Amino acid sequence: MSAPVKKVPIHLQSSQNRLLIKNGKVVNEDDASDADVYVEDGVIKQMGKNLIIPGGTRTIDARGKYVLPGGIDPHTHLDFQFFGTRTADTFYSGTKAAIAGGTTTIIDFVFPEKGESLLDTYYDYRQKAEGACCDYGFHVCVTHWSDRVKQEMELLTKEHGVNSFKMFMAYDFMLDDSELYCAFEQCKQLGALAQVHAENGPVLTENARRLLAKGVTGPEGHELSRPEEVEAEAVNRACVIAKQVDCPLYVVHVMSKSAAEALRRHAGGGRRTFGETLAAALGADGSQYKHQCFHHAAGHVLSPPLRPDTGTPVALMHHLADDGLTAFGEAVTSSLTQSGDGLVDLLASDVLQLTASDHCTFNKSQKEAGKGDFTKIPNGVNGVEDRMSVVWEKGVHAGILTPSRFVAVTSTNAAKLFNLYPRKGCIAVGSDADIVVWNPNATRTISAATHHQAGMTCHGVPDYVIVNGRVCLDEGQLRVVEGYGRFVETPAYAPFVYNPDELESLKPAKVEHVEHADVFQKMQKVKLA
Ligand code: URP
Ligand code: ZN
Ligand code: ZN
Ligand code: ZN
Repeated sequence: MSAPVKKVPIHLQSSQNRLLIKNGKVVNEDDASDADVYVEDGVIKQMGKNLIIPGGTRTIDARGKYVLPGGIDPHTHLDFQFFGTRTADTFYSGTKAAIAGGTTTIIDFVFPEKGESLLDTYYDYRQKAEGACCDYGFHVCVTHWSDRVKQEMELLTKEHGVNSFKMFMAYDFMLDDSELYCAFEQCKQLGALAQVHAENGPVLTENARRLLAKGVTGPEGHELSRPEEVEAEAVNRACVIAKQVDCPLYVVHVMSKSAAEALRRHAGGGRRTFGETLAAALGADGSQYKHQCFHHAAGHVLSPPLRPDTGTPVALMHHLADDGLTAFGEAVTSSLTQSGDGLVDLLASDVLQLTASDHCTFNKSQKEAGKGDFTKIPNGVNGVEDRMSVVWEKGVHAGILTPSRFVAVTSTNAAKLFNLYPRKGCIAVGSDADIVVWNPNATRTISAATHHQAGMTCHGVPDYVIVNGRVCLDEGQLRVVEGYGRFVETPAYAPFVYNPDELESLKPAKVEHVEHADVFQKMQKVKLA
């Protein structure tokens, strides 16, 4: 068992290492400014106006466009063996798709089979990931509990650049409550971030058994067997257990209003709970499971499932915006409180901070394994390419997110929580040159080839995607290099997780109380030149 030797990335030569992005609106999570950005050898070297630049530098004109930090997708599954089959996307094809959509870093999951060594599996994934076109980090899944697992978590954190572990409350590799307690305690001990897949496994298994016995065998049974409360109960339980050992907790794929509400009850004060939702949940709802075409319905099967409540996507987007408002400036009732002088105050709920894809693709024939028994449909959807456009369309274009909050929930907050900030997640001198030139006026219709969310037209498309200083999407032309991506270590004790003073910065800017008519204008306050 030895550590893999990482190839040195093939950087381009001499003057092509230099790039000037001119005339764009640079947007970070906390500000927006008209600035040119000069890149050399994969790093941002200068920002501002009237920069003095060496001759022979390539210039990209970003007039009328946003210059954004490259997306960080904190949740993907590439080259992953699941439900007895392997995902369609490898690290090469998955990161190629990521770049096409404006994502320049992914964090994937090392997934040991129950009983397998975490460390051995980690080495396997390091090897598998060598074909990646963009940078990548790893979370490690804890699929059983033992002293050896505990020791391996320590080694992974101290010697292998891993600062997050995912535990499951469902599937046959779930941990029970006392094992969760021990795993959370170990995460806290190591300065790692505990992640949890929150669904009540035993309850949904019983539900599924009864549904199948009644003849409900199609994909609609998937959601019926794991309704919102099955997710919300587990979120609450995970938060309670984490609190016993004062462990920061990150709930992955929050898919329902009830789950977000459960998380909200544990947020605030000195809380350290973090929530991630998915592009799939923001762009689609559970009506997909009733589609007459098996492939269409099965293509949307993931866990936790999409929800029949059609208000879910907008509600989750508002939890990301943390504005306590609907798109039309009306207060969301659950976020209301009456203040002493009779005015309605909006609570800063701060429930969700990140968006991911949970990209885990299976093709039609793989999904067919569940024809006649929905419990056998491989769980997972795609989205690594579409995430940025879906969040822009349903967030910024819909008037719910500001461009700055878009940057926070697609990039900066992931960089902060997994301790990659400010190397990644911002456009700043000294940061990696992971940059997207985003065209808010161009549109793209998600193709049928990607099936889930097929047909959705998104305003907001990347024109250029720069990965470590290399133009990998060039005026819409994909020019990726296999193996160009680097493994990025995620060190323990991320200040934004473990230092309470830094927690505040994960929140969006306070919402000012304005007349209803002004709300949309406020949302759009970052105007293009
Ligand atoms: O259905 C899903 N979400 N598939 C990927 C595995 C997981 O639980 O994240
Ligand atoms: Zn999960
Ligand atoms: Zn179909
Ligand atoms: Zn997942």
